[in-house]
Amino acid sequence: MLVLGVESSCDETSVAIVRDGKEVLSNVINSQIKIHEKFGGVVPEVASRHHVYQISMVFEEAFKIANVKPEEIDLVAVTEGPGLIGSLLVGVNAAKTFSMIYNKPLIAVHHLAGHIYANAIEHEMKFPCIALLVSGGNTELIYMKEHFSFEIIGETLDDAVGEAYDKVARVVGLPYPGGPYVDKLAHEGNDTYHLPRVYLEDGSYNFSFSGLKSSVINLAHNLKQRGEEVNVQNLCASFQDSVTEVLVNKTLALAKERNVNNIIVAGGVSANKGLKERFNKEGVGFNISIPSIKYCTDNAAMIATAAYYQYQKDKTLADLKLNADANLELESK
Ligand code: KG4
Repeated sequence: MLVLGVESSCDETSVAIVRDGKEVLSNVINSQIKIHEKFGGVVPEVASRHHVYQISMVFEEAFKIANVKPEEIDLVAVTEGPGLIGSLLVGVNAAKTFSMIYNKPLIAVHHLAGHIYANAIEHEMKFPCIALLVSGGNTELIYMKEHFSFEIIGETLDDAVGEAYDKVARVVGLPYPGGPYVDKLAHEGNDTYHLPRVYLEDGSYNFSFSGLKSSVINLAHNLKQRGEEVNVQNLCASFQDSVTEVLVNKTLALAKERNVNNIIVAGGVSANKGLKERFNKEGVGFNISIPSIKYCTDNAAMIATAAYYQYQKDKTLADLKLNADANLELESK
């Protein structure tokens, strides 16, 4: 089954062609990072406009690289939400147009299901499993008893992990998006600042990162006021240690509580080397799956792959009335 995937939920315009949820024939990603860098974050209106400029070219390139003709596509998959509404609409309309012109079935995919199924491209997903989803907009712990069954056990009460990374990066003068820069510098420093580890008093599997973020900001300001230098490497290492310790401990605790051996990590922050290292160290005995970096951040191959499994489970198709939904909930199919 040849699935065409379309993803435009934030600042990446991406189109992919994937065979049977595994063989990625093309995965073209046009990133707008350079455009938004100067604003220190994604500007929704600018992102939406840029998707409009890029989408046709990205479609063309995806077909060229895959060496596939539009007529050969079996299913068109598009991110319905959540995300920035103006950005989502561009992908949804492009996918609907393609589906109408070539008379191909259309399927709507949840962006977070896409991130989770990025794992299925290179590894076999085994069930039951716990998915830790960490991105710029989401931090969730999800129990999956089978394909396309999502029970959300914990989520962030305030900032998403990626968001916290990006804000901390900004405080220490690193470019946007800051996650990869903080990760790199963290490996050049040590946890000398001993920032708080936030475990909620209610004992739940929810997360909170805004207090940690404020600690970093206050520390940086206090040092500056005293005329002392911030050791950026050590601050990044301290922040990363605090974040990864909480993420890994909570994930492993949930896996133990539910007697689950399979863990998957997904979303942009799953590209984090510190997180990977900690999972490998602390998670001995668990079957831990993390996608390759190219499938961690937003891309359309993960949407095509998710659609392949979604369609196996539930043949519900979308029609030309499909609309983007900026706040779409993750539902089991
Ligand atoms: O999944 P994604 O591409 O977009 C969303 O759907 O949110 O994630 C982007 C987020 C950004 O906040 C970025 O800073 C973060 O993922 N990120 C990282 C790393 N690479 C990307 N955070 C920490 N360490 C990394 N290596």
